[in-house]
Amino acid sequence: MATVCGDGRRRYGSLVLVDELRATVGSDHVFDGAGTSHVVDWTGRFVGATDLVVRPGSLDEVRRVLAIARAHGRAVVPQGGNTGLVGGSVPLHGEIVLSSARLNEVGVPDVDARRIVVEAGATLEAVQVAAASVGLRYPVDFGARASATIGGTIATNAGGVNVLRYGTTRAQVLGLEAVLADGSIVSTMAGLMKDNTGYDLRGLLCGSEGTLGVITRAVLRLVPAHVSVTTVLVGCESVSDAMSVVGRVGRASDTVDAAELMSRRGVSLTSEVTGVGAPFDAAWYVLVESSVGEEQGDTLARLLSGRSQVAVAESPARRRALWRLRDEHTPSIATLGTPLKYDVTLPLASLPRFVDEVGEAVTSVAPTAETIVFGHAADGNLHVNVLGAREERAIDETVLTTVGAYRGSISAEHGVGAAKREWLHLTRSAEEIAAMRAIKRALDPEGILNPHVLLP
Ligand code: FAD
Ligand code: MLT
Ligand code: ZN
Repeated sequence: MATVCGDGRRRYGSLVLVDELRATVGSDHVFDGAGTSHVVDWTGRFVGATDLVVRPGSLDEVRRVLAIARAHGRAVVPQGGNTGLVGGSVPLHGEIVLSSARLNEVGVPDVDARRIVVEAGATLEAVQVAAASVGLRYPVDFGARASATIGGTIATNAGGVNVLRYGTTRAQVLGLEAVLADGSIVSTMAGLMKDNTGYDLRGLLCGSEGTLGVITRAVLRLVPAHVSVTTVLVGCESVSDAMSVVGRVGRASDTVDAAELMSRRGVSLTSEVTGVGAPFDAAWYVLVESSVGEEQGDTLARLLSGRSQVAVAESPARRRALWRLRDEHTPSIATLGTPLKYDVTLPLASLPRFVDEVGEAVTSVAPTAETIVFGHAADGNLHVNVLGAREERAIDETVLTTVGAYRGSISAEHGVGAAKREWLHLTRSAEEIAAMRAIKRALDPEGILNPHVLLP
């Protein structure tokens, strides 16, 4: 497919293809990916190549770009903010990158109906700001909010820090519009609260990682902005102790939005990188946040009475500082190198044992490697980042088979992408993988939509 042209650069497409794409989206919006951020993922671990990055500016242009790609037998990787962490958003096999960057409209929030219509390329932060402007909140939130797009968060069914109370992205999507591989359009943009007319195509496209359709718009649920927020950092002796805190606050109050686990190493590293001080030293930390629409009493303080290390954020600035200790874990870890990243879910009761076991398992394979564990403890979702290990596949195997032994999931919220596809069998049965293949074959028979991710 690739030919080397006079200028020595590889050209994947024929010039006819480039001309057709330019005639469709405009010359400025078709360019060579070489040397751009479009071909390397956020971690730097997945580096692809393409001479075709295309930025359609409308639903119809997305349809026509897919038709052209199909006519030329070319695969397409839909790309939003390119903050994905499993290698699913970059052209690892010379695919055309279809960027949603120009599809970034954010509608006016409908206050009464508590919803907002947005285009796929709108960032998470832009939607949060629009919601806040009318006293509402879009409840999906995580550190990459400034770059991650709504289309990407739907395609990966992103989780974030508020899943405990509001669910994952799938729970926020009231409707969506997408273009399938054959150019047909799926649209549930009426965003009806109840609509039981056949298969849930909206639910199917959530988490499909760009393999079943290109998401172009969505209707998202909004919730009341928090009027009164209590943010508390709790020091714990062990993961078991931390999980007892998570259980206590999670069970006792339905106003808890978040309960995030961090280790001494993760907090001290993030504190060092960001300059944000931790209020105390502990082996493990739980960052708990609860919010209500009206003034709330001292719910969390009462639930956590009797503990020796409890720091309540007395001001919005202090709340933001505590959250920076959590939000900036990923960029801080990245200052030490490119980690092997595992995003796993465990049954809550197994979590403490898993943390011990996975650390030992990594050390048995790579004695000098460092393992940093943190994550969304309330959801049983841990992020295991392994630094300084060369034995990549052996570490993959030991971490993910340990997860499988606990009947956990090899991917809690980031998706499968390219990184985890060969391990999918540890969480999905052969029959389930066959069913997913059948759906993929039915909706994308020519395999033009992100064909190298998700399915082994
Ligand atoms: P991209 O990276 O561009 O793409 C991701 C996947 O979605 C790819 O398979 C791509 O093909 C597909 N895709 C993108 N746009 C579309 C579209 N319009 N239609 C169809 N498919 C599309 N994730 C979490 O879930 N929880 C977290 O807490 C979290 N924290 C993070 C913190 C940091 C610092 C970073 C860097 C990442 C974090 N992530 C987290 C991972 C990442 O931000 C999410 O996976 C996010 O949903 C990706 O959005 P994106 O727009 O960057 O998508
Ligand atoms: C997070 O919760 O910070 C993210 O999912 C990122 C990560 O796993 O590194
Ligand atoms: Zn996460």
